[in-house]
Amino acid sequence: MTPEELESKLTEAERNALGALEEVHDSAQLEEFRLKFMGKKGEVTAILSGVGQLDKADRSRVGALANTVKTNIEQAFETRKRAFYNQELNERLSTERIDVTLPGTGLKPGHIHPLTQITNDIIEIFHGMGFSVAEGPEVETDYYNFDALNTPDNHPARDSQDTFYTNINPSVLLRSQTSTVQVRVMEKTKPPLRIISPGRVYRNEEVNARKYPLFHQLEGLLIDKDVTFGELKGLLTEFIRLFLGKPLKTRFRPDFFPFTEPSAELDSQCPFCMGSGCKVCGHRGWLELLGCGMVDPNVLKGVGIDPEEWNGFAFGMGIERVAMLKYDVNDIRHFFTNDLRFLEQF
Ligand code: DAH
Repeated sequence: MTPEELESKLTEAERNALGALEEVHDSAQLEEFRLKFMGKKGEVTAILSGVGQLDKADRSRVGALANTVKTNIEQAFETRKRAFYNQELNERLSTERIDVTLPGTGLKPGHIHPLTQITNDIIEIFHGMGFSVAEGPEVETDYYNFDALNTPDNHPARDSQDTFYTNINPSVLLRSQTSTVQVRVMEKTKPPLRIISPGRVYRNEEVNARKYPLFHQLEGLLIDKDVTFGELKGLLTEFIRLFLGKPLKTRFRPDFFPFTEPSAELDSQCPFCMGSGCKVCGHRGWLELLGCGMVDPNVLKGVGIDPEEWNGFAFGMGIERVAMLKYDVNDIRHFFTNDLRFLEQF
């Protein structure tokens, strides 16, 4: 191509491009324009490649024209681009709205579940009395859940502790009580000892306001020399004073547990009415708090501790039960349904 032909091609390309730009109405069309006229395969680029073949004198003249054409197209392009950007931004600003007065979606701080709080409170009280925490498995064998606790097969006390059985083996089950931990600790640790063991337990029971197939217990065990029932009573009365926050009368009622002899149920004077009778204590004036007793010599023998040399006491409480009494909660299911209106009260 001659220099003159190139020059007229360049002017024509400029006219074409500026004309085409007039027909562009949005940024999508603008992008098509950029590819057609300004991209690597665009018309102007193709013409520019011809400039390199010209003589030196022509090359600088035609090259200067080529640069002007290129700059003109680019400037016109930039002007349109800015106009579209402003136009589209204004459209969005007038249609999309953010209500800055709406509350934000920040994360609410959580807190420890009431059952964990109560468990920690109880642990702290017994910790101050020299007890340490021991734990045991929730999937147990019927040896630890029953036999070692002086409850052989066919013993009627097994009926009240029906639980869930696994398909690992007929004798592998979910523990129905934390008393299992007493046996596991005594097998491994020489007396004297003082332990408490909080944890989850299971019962095959119909759900209602007072019963749930999963709940929590806290077990206590003290083994030493010449331990008396009076010491058991003193310790638990002090526990109740610290747990319920004031000195309260206590009473023991005879009861039966296979692993303690004698056994008792411990009642506390109702802290809400101080014994005169109210809704919480069912107008009895007393709250039934926990089971306890002197460890049966058979249990000690079973783990190789000489009952002539050592003796002791044990107790076990339902954590939901004492929590319900302390905070006047009327339905055990509140602890498991995770309704924030309930949980946030603690
Ligand atoms: N394990 C008993 C239950 O589930 C509670 C209990 C009663 C535990 C008396 C004890 C105890 O250690 O001495 O009903």
